[in-house]
Amino acid sequence: MLYRTYRPTTWSEVVGQEHVVRTLQGALETERIGHAYLFAGPRGTGKTTLGRLFAKALNCTAKSRKPCGSCDSCVSIEEGRSMDLIEIDAASNRTIDDMRELRENIGAAPTASKYKVYLIDEAHMITKEAFNAFLKTLEEPPAHVIFILATTDAAKIIPTVLSRVQRFDFKKPTQQQIVTKLATVAKQEKLKISDGALAAVAAAADGAFRDAEVMLTKLASHLGGSAIDEAIAQSVLGLVPLSWHPKFLTALAARDRAGALRFLHEIQAQGADADQFAKGFLEYLRRVMVAKIDMSILEQAGLAMADTQLAHVREFAANMEGAQLVKAIQAFTDARNRIRTAPIAFFPLELAALEVAAP
Ligand SMILES: Nc1ncnc2c1ncn2[C@@H]1O[C@H](COP(=O)(O)OP(=O)(O)OP(=O)(O)O)[C@@H](O)[C@H]1O
Ligand SMILES: [Mg+2]
Ligand SMILES: [Zn+2]
Repeated sequence: MLYRTYRPTTWSEVVGQEHVVRTLQGALETERIGHAYLFAGPRGTGKTTLGRLFAKALNCTAKSRKPCGSCDSCVSIEEGRSMDLIEIDAASNRTIDDMRELRENIGAAPTASKYKVYLIDEAHMITKEAFNAFLKTLEEPPAHVIFILATTDAAKIIPTVLSRVQRFDFKKPTQQQIVTKLATVAKQEKLKISDGALAAVAAAADGAFRDAEVMLTKLASHLGGSAIDEAIAQSVLGLVPLSWHPKFLTALAARDRAGALRFLHEIQAQGADADQFAKGFLEYLRRVMVAKIDMSILEQAGLAMADTQLAHVREFAANMEGAQLVKAIQAFTDARNRIRTAPIAFFPLELAALEVAAP
């Protein structure tokens, strides 16, 4: 799997998450290391990656502590055999007994390094009782112990724990950031893949680097050495072509009812799934709506897209009437709700199109 091979092993390979990277590097430089961290954020955004990287930097024996990647400590962490980076999956170690056991073990000094780092994944799975049994340890662990709790669901972490950790919120990468990462991987793997194909994969990954890399792996194994363009990527991965949403919206905005219906019939003939199309189209409308207020919010909300895509969004935002946009969002939201029970899945979409494109 490419995503294992291409997990960043140095700070500079990390794409995005600048706020986390900078703060952790600052802590290392000033030697002001916290004893408990919480890495919260969506899946596949780098929580485990940065946890390991931080552990590596903490225990690196080279003077610079970059981490060097070649000292015994760095190598053992990279090979996944370090005794001083303990990764625990809380999904299967969530009870009071598990926490007691952990508490008893942490007293022992690190075997070969300065710190013993406990990276606890899926930390929201730990039961409340187990967390309570663990609070004291979390508050005052032995000086050589550092906890990193990782979770995709910080809302489930109890307040008493939250108040004892330094929290970092990981952001969903933008499509452009995912493209950046995919391009690096593609280059190293010597894949011949077009920019359009990379953009299509990034758009489909919905903010998870891992999903994007898994899709790239699938493309690479499917196509051996041959070149991959957008159309191939779409057919192999079953993606909605990036051109569909702007094309459909162009017809609606021009109140071209025949064109809008023709478009729906075309994609239906190509085997598109009505619900999936509706979902994607609504996401697209949402972007246009946000862009109409302020382009910069798109970036902040993690809705940024590849540049070619963004140009269309900008144009719709500038030229479409707000009222028609709102109408479209309402009509297609209703349509999507009705698709499941409709006798013909595309029927609600056609009605919505006629409504939105009505003169
Ligand atoms: N910020 C990033 N920069 C570059 N690559 C990344 C980044 N985040 C994730 N990746 C890629 O995605 C893969 C999965 O990342 P990671 O395991 O760190 O995600 P996670 O946040 O721990 O997800 P989960 O919540 O599912 O455990 C990595 O192996 C790496 O290839
Ligand atoms: Mg993880
Ligand atoms: Zn090192």
